Amino acid sequence: TRLTQGGAAGALEVGGLDVVGLAERFGTPAFILDETDFRSRATAFRDAFAEAFAAVGGADVYYAGKAFLCTAVARWVAEDGLHLDTCSGGELTVALRAGVAPERIALHGNNKLDFEIDRAVSNGVGRIVVDSLTEIDRVAEAARRYGVRQPVMVRVTVGVEAHTHEYMSTAHEDQKFGLSLSEGHAAAAIAKILALPELELRGLHSHIGSQIFDTGGFEVAVRRLLDLHAATKVQHGVDLPEMDLGGGYGIAYTSEHDPLEPKALADQLAAIVLRECRGLGIDVPRISVEPGRAIAGPSAFTLYRVGTVKDVPLDGGAARRYVSVDGGMSDNIRTALYDADYSCTLASRASSAGPVLSRVVGKHCESGDVVVRDEFLPSDVAPGDLLAVPATGAYCRSMASQYNHVPRPPVVAVRDGEARVIVRRETEDDLLALDVG
Ligand code: LLP
Repeated sequence: TRLTQGGAAGALEVGGLDVVGLAERFGTPAFILDETDFRSRATAFRDAFAEAFAAVGGADVYYAGKAFLCTAVARWVAEDGLHLDTCSGGELTVALRAGVAPERIALHGNNKLDFEIDRAVSNGVGRIVVDSLTEIDRVAEAARRYGVRQPVMVRVTVGVEAHTHEYMSTAHEDQKFGLSLSEGHAAAAIAKILALPELELRGLHSHIGSQIFDTGGFEVAVRRLLDLHAATKVQHGVDLPEMDLGGGYGIAYTSEHDPLEPKALADQLAAIVLRECRGLGIDVPRISVEPGRAIAGPSAFTLYRVGTVKDVPLDGGAARRYVSVDGGMSDNIRTALYDADYSCTLASRASSAGPVLSRVVGKHCESGDVVVRDEFLPSDVAPGDLLAVPATGAYCRSMASQYNHVPRPPVVAVRDGEARVIVRRETEDDLLALDVG
């Protein structure tokens, strides 16, 4: 999102719209999503991967809907020629309802429920990424029932330690995802699928983790996947047509992060894949990737209104300023859950007051309810001011809760100087409607 200072009294603007006007019109807290920014990031990934792999016929980009999905976003992704990765029956329903072509949809999950497998198979999704040996039988049974041959991929645990938060690491052995390479479970899954006529094995899949900044882990993953890919050809005489490297590409939450641009990332991954395939003397499978955060994350910011400002004494005579806003851990759990870093700016006006180290906290009934741990805000920040927290487009609205019966904020898309609600604000009536006791 390009937040610039240009509004009345130095208020921030996004896409030509003043945040003060946005707050009046849509209320706070609100997620403001820059459609042009989201779509240019999506198409940058699409083009970068198509170009980097042009010599072998291109590559596919699956937007990982878990980062943020709603009908409008699913439509943008489809219109812009991306594929869509879903990981639940609900995400699948949003994708189908938005009109995404089923053959361009993938379904993930370590514990897919019967109804989810059924929904995927009956709608003809392009790939189900199987995550356990027992799931293979269940997908085959559904395919038999619908009289179709279901394309599947095998989620392989490649044994890579991704350098990221433990909760976001997904390819070391001791976690719930995938079929172990070292234990031979992935090879057993391949043999099992190849023996089932209802299933069509499209290839191998790996996702090593999230918010990753260097390609070293991907390089190890590619090498291990390709070894298994090559062994499948030797053992079964089958040339698997595809391979998916997952997502996980890091973004800049603060100025301390320096993410790879899509082009540099695609070029590096292509160099690794092409080199390793040449070394093994095998044809290059069609590569796909699944970025979520790198597309959605930077495209939105959260607009909050300040309610209280408190200076709390610390040991040694210093003080810490606590600035409370009208949302918190219910619209951004990432700071509390992953110790994530965010930044924050005064959005409703310019200020020449000196900076004060501040902690931006929410309105929830617990002390871990922190949105931004440390930020220098102007010392005259006061109740009624608006604050903007950038880079909240991924895993904030999608992980939002109604903790303390606080309704979840809306998502407002801005484009060409116009704003429209794409996810409306939840109401107390929405919450009370569930309460049927
Ligand atoms: N593909 C698979 C199979 C995944 O499990 C994930 C993320 C992605 C793709 C997309 O990863 P991305 O490009 O967005 O990093 N809630 C956490 C992150 C958990 C991600 C889970 N899987 C967060 O707030 O950071």
